[in-house]
Amino acid sequence: MAPSVAELQTPGGVDVITNLKHAVKENLKTGPSYPFYYPHFDLEEKFPPIEPFEFTDPGSRANPAKPHLLTANTTTHHLSPYLGTEITGVQISQLTPEGLDELALYTAERKVLVFRDQDFKDLSPERQIEIASHFGPIQKHPTSGNAKGFPEFHVVYRDTEHDRFGDPDRANLTGWHSDVSYERQTPGTTFFFILEQPETGGGDTLFLSQVEAYNRLSPEFQKRLEGLRAVHSAVAQAEFSRKRGGPIRREPIETEHPVVRVHPVTGEKALYVNQGFTRRIVGFKTEESEYLLKFLFDHIAKGADFQIRGTYQPGTVVVWDNRVTAHSATRDFDKVHRRHAVRLTPQAEVPIPG
Ligand SMILES: [Fe+2]
Repeated sequence: MAPSVAELQTPGGVDVITNLKHAVKENLKTGPSYPFYYPHFDLEEKFPPIEPFEFTDPGSRANPAKPHLLTANTTTHHLSPYLGTEITGVQISQLTPEGLDELALYTAERKVLVFRDQDFKDLSPERQIEIASHFGPIQKHPTSGNAKGFPEFHVVYRDTEHDRFGDPDRANLTGWHSDVSYERQTPGTTFFFILEQPETGGGDTLFLSQVEAYNRLSPEFQKRLEGLRAVHSAVAQAEFSRKRGGPIRREPIETEHPVVRVHPVTGEKALYVNQGFTRRIVGFKTEESEYLLKFLFDHIAKGADFQIRGTYQPGTVVVWDNRVTAHSATRDFDKVHRRHAVRLTPQAEVPIPG
């Protein structure tokens, strides 16, 4: 049955349809607040394969007491015992190289750091790239929107006119993944800064600890995973882009990674499979591989007791360690609202088998 007029009334007395029409008009009228980062797709843009590079994690140089990062002015609030810490009273842009080393270590330890009230979004693009490059060479995404002339920026953007996020065939859009895990040298300390977000709330990022996901398994099961390798593939992502008329800037690759990896600084073991990119277990028959991966994906997705929600306020920068976490976007806001964010994705070491 269609909703009655009363059901469409908001407490303020304005009906929902009028509100939506107004939001669409405003959205189209105003344009993005940060047009420099409007997603840019150039079908002619091409990148060569990524060459191997030497990598030393900056966290390995850090003072464990973190005196440059956690000063008397800094407050921290843990979001869960396993991962996630909200931080106020420090500007990432003001950190010394020692402070950035400590940021790498703290991110590895806490897995996700939510920095509030940052000036990061208003720095020059060159300075933003310089800061993130402290943590490794920045991955240039093969298919996503970037910023014109600055392919280091991976732009996440949704509004009425631009929605690459939807999939009408899915009942929900939760999609656990670790970013571009198909790369040979996978991302480590990763930066994500919000430019605009829906007034209605929503658009949080879900995160989970792959260390705790591993720890929850029985010693016998952990032993079975030891030595296994899995294929991570960029092929579906490239195909998705091609079907929608988007670019394929670099030929898609497939890479084998250990199912359990060790963090180079903390020494913690983490599961390293994700539904987004992990396709099969090397050496297993199809049914065996599907059986094991289904269990691991379910285990990860259902682990609400080792997950958090990263929330956004104007000026929020979220930093996470892609080696020991998985995350999912939350598409719980209507596309009449604009959400605009940018990721900088430094690559780290070839995964160390656990
Ligand atoms: Fe992601």
